Amino acid sequence: MERELAIAMKFPAGFRWGAATAAHQVEGANTNSDFWLLEHLDGTVFMEPSGDACDHYHRYPDDIALLASLGFNAYRFSIEWARVEPAPGEFSIAQLDHYRRMLETCHRHGLAAVVTMHHFSSPRWLAARGGWEAAETAMLFARYCERVANHLGDLIDTACTINEINLPVVLRQSGFLHSDDAILRAQWRVAAARAVGVEAENFSSFPFCVRSLSREVLLDAHRGATQALRAGRGKFPIGMTLALRDMQAVPGGEDACARARGEAEDIYLEAARGDDFLGVQCYTRERFGEHGVLPADGSARFTQMGYEFCPEALEAAIRYAAAAACVPLIVTESGVATADDSQRIEFVERALAGVARCLRDGIDVRGYFHWSLLDNFEWLFGYAPRFGLIAVDRETQRRTVKPSAEWLGAFARANGTG
Ligand code: BGC
Repeated sequence: MERELAIAMKFPAGFRWGAATAAHQVEGANTNSDFWLLEHLDGTVFMEPSGDACDHYHRYPDDIALLASLGFNAYRFSIEWARVEPAPGEFSIAQLDHYRRMLETCHRHGLAAVVTMHHFSSPRWLAARGGWEAAETAMLFARYCERVANHLGDLIDTACTINEINLPVVLRQSGFLHSDDAILRAQWRVAAARAVGVEAENFSSFPFCVRSLSREVLLDAHRGATQALRAGRGKFPIGMTLALRDMQAVPGGEDACARARGEAEDIYLEAARGDDFLGVQCYTRERFGEHGVLPADGSARFTQMGYEFCPEALEAAIRYAAAAACVPLIVTESGVATADDSQRIEFVERALAGVARCLRDGIDVRGYFHWSLLDNFEWLFGYAPRFGLIAVDRETQRRTVKPSAEWLGAFARANGTG
């Protein structure tokens, strides 16, 4: 595919330019979370444990200063429920104060603070009570959000409730997770349940949850959290984020594609309709044949994640989401796993050209957050995939700014190419 360098990319005044992270992937030592437990089981499915991650818990002042100095005007990070509520109903003021200092640091550097209330990891105690498959979780999540809003709301600029609320369905469709039954019987689930002293059916961790049970719980949790955040200190836009793909049907695959889209996207896009915004997250495209997702064709380029290098997927996802959800959009994640940073620049430039075309056509997109600020812990895949604008030495925690960070920072400072 040709690189589209020729178009002038103009972005509206006030457009948010940021990078994103998630607590468990960068903070380090998130020991009270369900993921920490899963990473340390005998026979774990994780390539390696998260360990110190990027030690962002301690190094956030320098990381945030660096982000601002590069030219960005926003930072998206998540608040870790497992830290804020270490035991059911027991809230840690010290941890809330930690996140308050992070928010203050953002503001001191002129960065808008976009917080995510749940980015995959949950308290271990929640997972042992049925996690996102248990109806009471919606209320528990709203209660945690209420505490956060009361303590931090005056410093929050935008809040995402649940990151990729549709991910359990997407992973199933992409062949990454198997049937509900297989999840219930999975060895890791049995081992994790044993470790916390409950039956396997009572242990559940996002996004590896049984779809039929978790969908309504997650949507209820989103609604309850929205109300709780609205009622707290401060006034800021609130929305969910979705994992979207450019879902394309090859001839004969139209029905399969529409079915998959209905289940993985349409239900959630409809649920987002009354929200203040929707967070769009898109990494690739998937083509559908009669029987579901097809392997990429022989000419495709692949990312380190094993899926197709396809920056134009973002534009398609934005167009689809805008038409279905009818709310303002923020690109809360877009990026690529590659060891070759020049490919990252190519990816971002092509993805942004798509955002610019959407804006030109009148679609209300309010920001672009690159995934990710740092090379970080990529869940099951460990530290091998490199999504960061900034490299992190795993031994010394030394940060090295990559050319893509300089490039995107300059682009952000200029609000486009002129
Ligand atoms: C998630 C991130 C993840 C990224 C890259 C998104 O699905 O929100 O946590 O690291 O994709 O795979």
